[in-house]
Amino acid sequence: MEKRVYNFSAGPSVLPEEVLKQAQEELLVYPGAGMSVMEMSHRSKNFNDIFVAAQNDLRKLLDISDNYTILFLQGGATLQFSMVPLNLMPPANKADYIVTGAWSKKAVKEAKRVGEVNIAATSEDSNFTYIPKEFNLSEDAAYVHFTSNNTIFGTQFKTEPETGNIPLVCDASSDILHKKIDVNKYGLIYAGAQKNMGPAGATLVIIRNDLLERSSDELHTYLNYSIHASKNSLYNTPPAYTVYIIGLVYKWLLNMGGLDEMYKRNVEKAEILYNYIDESDGYYRGTAAKEDRSLMNVTFRMATEELEKKFIAEATEKGFVGLKGHRSVGGLRASIYNAFPKKGVEDLVQFMSDFKKNN
Ligand SMILES: Cc1ncc(COP(=O)(O)O)c(C=O)c1O
Repeated sequence: MEKRVYNFSAGPSVLPEEVLKQAQEELLVYPGAGMSVMEMSHRSKNFNDIFVAAQNDLRKLLDISDNYTILFLQGGATLQFSMVPLNLMPPANKADYIVTGAWSKKAVKEAKRVGEVNIAATSEDSNFTYIPKEFNLSEDAAYVHFTSNNTIFGTQFKTEPETGNIPLVCDASSDILHKKIDVNKYGLIYAGAQKNMGPAGATLVIIRNDLLERSSDELHTYLNYSIHASKNSLYNTPPAYTVYIIGLVYKWLLNMGGLDEMYKRNVEKAEILYNYIDESDGYYRGTAAKEDRSLMNVTFRMATEELEKKFIAEATEKGFVGLKGHRSVGGLRASIYNAFPKKGVEDLVQFMSDFKKNN
């Protein structure tokens, strides 16, 4: 087999090798089914067992109560930028958004098509290098939306914004399951699968049941949370194979000791990289405010774009792939999601140190 590289991509991104191997073993014949999961009817007992196990394992990982419904939808987090306001904004037709990056801005753009948006805080003044700590919240907002981890800018909320009785809605696409969170603080959490959970194609939505009552019958069927919930997320054909892999990832997380253990590992990995950056005498320069640094996406720069280009080229040649920053900001970004191994971070630091000596 050809050697696997260290994959630092921001998403789709690295998956646990154990999961890929199990999927490989079960690719042709899923045990007891005589066929691949790709070939199964989504109404079959075998698939139903896979689907329900994924939902139950997620409940275990995050201690999700029966007060919440778990959906696996299509359309990416991008469709949630629209579904959230379409379902949750009426009748107030007003919502608060905390803007901490390009993805929050895109969420705002869609929400404005539905109703009034109050920007409760933004860090755009410094090109999103920090997380605002004060929020100008409205009393009559239908919900407050925030992006827990800013994939492009490398910043992350360390705690949830306090919103009192107003439902908190979170785009957790790039840090879902990196640590245990208290789901009871949220009205709705959504996340595309392709960073911390599985391949692209499914979007997780965890919604508090009372909020389902807000979905209007006037909405187009697919856009209506309440309809998906009433059919246990099987109103139409779900992203079946993706949910199967997501289920394997949930089992992998449970087997390794759950999210507290995962968080410990994530902190360890990020510290190795940030400490090296901080000790490099400015050769590598972290772009995010220290207290808001992301554990998932480590963003940094070098003295010139030429040097960055050379770094990326040499790194790629040595098997460190996907280190180029997002096209909108440039620089460098190492995405070190749950499945990224500690050894890969240690090897990257060694490479960075060698590169510094030679350049
Ligand atoms: C925080 C965040 N939100 C939303 C998106 C968009 O997700 P999708 O491509 O699944 O629509 C991304 C993608 O990178 C993201 O990082």
